[in-house]
Amino acid sequence: QRRTSTAWSPQGEFMLPSSRTRPNSKTNGVGVQVEDTRICVVMVGLPARGKSLIAQKVVRYLGWLSITARCFNVGSYRRNDTPHPTADFFDTSNKEGERLRMAAAEAAVADMMRWFKSPNNLIAILDATNSTKSRRRWIKDRCDAEGVETLFVESKCEDEDVIMSNIREVKLTSPDYEGQDPEQAALDFRQRITMYERVYETLDEDESDMTYCKIIDVGSQVIINRIQDYLQSRVVYYLMNLHIKPRSIWISRHGESMYNLSGQIGGDANLSERGQRYAQVLPDLVKQSAGDRPLTVWTSTLKRTAQTAHHLPYEKLSWKALDELDSGVCDGLTYADIEQQYPHDFKARDEDKYNYRYTGGESYRDVVIRLEPIIMELERSENILIVTHQAVLRCIYAYFMGSAQDKSPWMEVPLHCLIKLTPRAYKTEEERIYADVPAVSTWREKGSKAEHANTPDPSRLGSPSIKAESKEVPQ
Ligand code: ATP
Ligand code: F6P
Repeated sequence: QRRTSTAWSPQGEFMLPSSRTRPNSKTNGVGVQVEDTRICVVMVGLPARGKSLIAQKVVRYLGWLSITARCFNVGSYRRNDTPHPTADFFDTSNKEGERLRMAAAEAAVADMMRWFKSPNNLIAILDATNSTKSRRRWIKDRCDAEGVETLFVESKCEDEDVIMSNIREVKLTSPDYEGQDPEQAALDFRQRITMYERVYETLDEDESDMTYCKIIDVGSQVIINRIQDYLQSRVVYYLMNLHIKPRSIWISRHGESMYNLSGQIGGDANLSERGQRYAQVLPDLVKQSAGDRPLTVWTSTLKRTAQTAHHLPYEKLSWKALDELDSGVCDGLTYADIEQQYPHDFKARDEDKYNYRYTGGESYRDVVIRLEPIIMELERSENILIVTHQAVLRCIYAYFMGSAQDKSPWMEVPLHCLIKLTPRAYKTEEERIYADVPAVSTWREKGSKAEHANTPDPSRLGSPSIKAESKEVPQ
């Protein structure tokens, strides 16, 4: 069996102990020695137990960490032949139904094996009910034969309220029930679950040779078995932190700083007079958006975020991991200074802003790695308000929105704007609330060395305006 043992290097990267390094070992984008480990995460559970949602979140999380992952949803293969099945299609005594369902599973597994042939493709998620021991053994045998590890992830939930709300929230809008009466669709879906319940076998001691993680009642109990390598434990740890309680996350940059006014980057400057005014109106903006919900405020360790959060009447925590991207030798310079003093660096950063690392400083990729514990803590938490910096905010936003790495470092995030993110099944909703306090724009377009200048953004004028928009997280 291929197993990867990992250890921290002084640089904070995961390394294989050298005696165990094999010739074909490789380091992925986050500095993880992944050898040739490829994992098939096999979802297990009755319908409406959150399997697809969990699968989609894992793909997004891993993608954010530059670990190439993809979901293979057997339901979408099945829909090619049977787009609108009724519950009896899922009755195991329906021979034709059984044949078509097995064909869909085989097609998904075959595509997955082809996908694994590409060396960068590391984690596939096989999203189906995989509700019987024989189906699971078949998948394990197929994966073993191709040298792919398996990690079975079962979501087990008996809570009727959760199941009914899952049906209402996502199943009635499934393409399976397109154009159908919602009441009829809900009844049929319930009936479909009954068909699966007749044959469903939970993961148990008969499968003690398998690597698995059993999530019971949305994480109130988690059972893990034979989790052995770094990537598996990363995925399992992430799964253990997920919850489905409704909540929002608010993110804001600090108020305008003296460095923003002079166009300098980095540093640890105080707020400008307008920045202080933003700090004063921020409690009202938050109240307007969050009402009386309990909140915790997270800031960086830099003065400008602490000063911005100063008047907020909530518990506060400061995190070093939320400090701004370290611009190394360019700290304290303006973009125009950088272009003049380090022209090659200036150009290289524009060409690949995500990967460019300032001399003695960081890249966006580095920031993502140090933000991982923040994301983990955010997943565990409920309502959080984060007051942070431009680059850090872009990275956190990219996690929730599934933004592409070549786009996220260029995202425009104005000063004096509160962004509310509300995770929902299969999408994150976004709302922007602008304070009526002008500020310079620190956004620089690719190829320009823009001075930080006042931008008369009309949406910022007049009373605090709310612009709401909803964005789907790509699957
Ligand atoms: P199917 O087998 O029909 O594809 P599924 O198990 O994939 O069903 P999803 O479509 O993922 O079900 O259901 C999404 C719903 O599940 C969301 O409303 C989400 O809040 C909820 N959910 C997420 N995680 C869990 C969990 N661990 N247990 C139960 N419900 C969950
Ligand atoms: O100008 C404000 C600032 O937070 C700087 O301290 C930081 O270097 C910069 O923004 C990050 O933005 P970009 O990656 O677009 O240069």
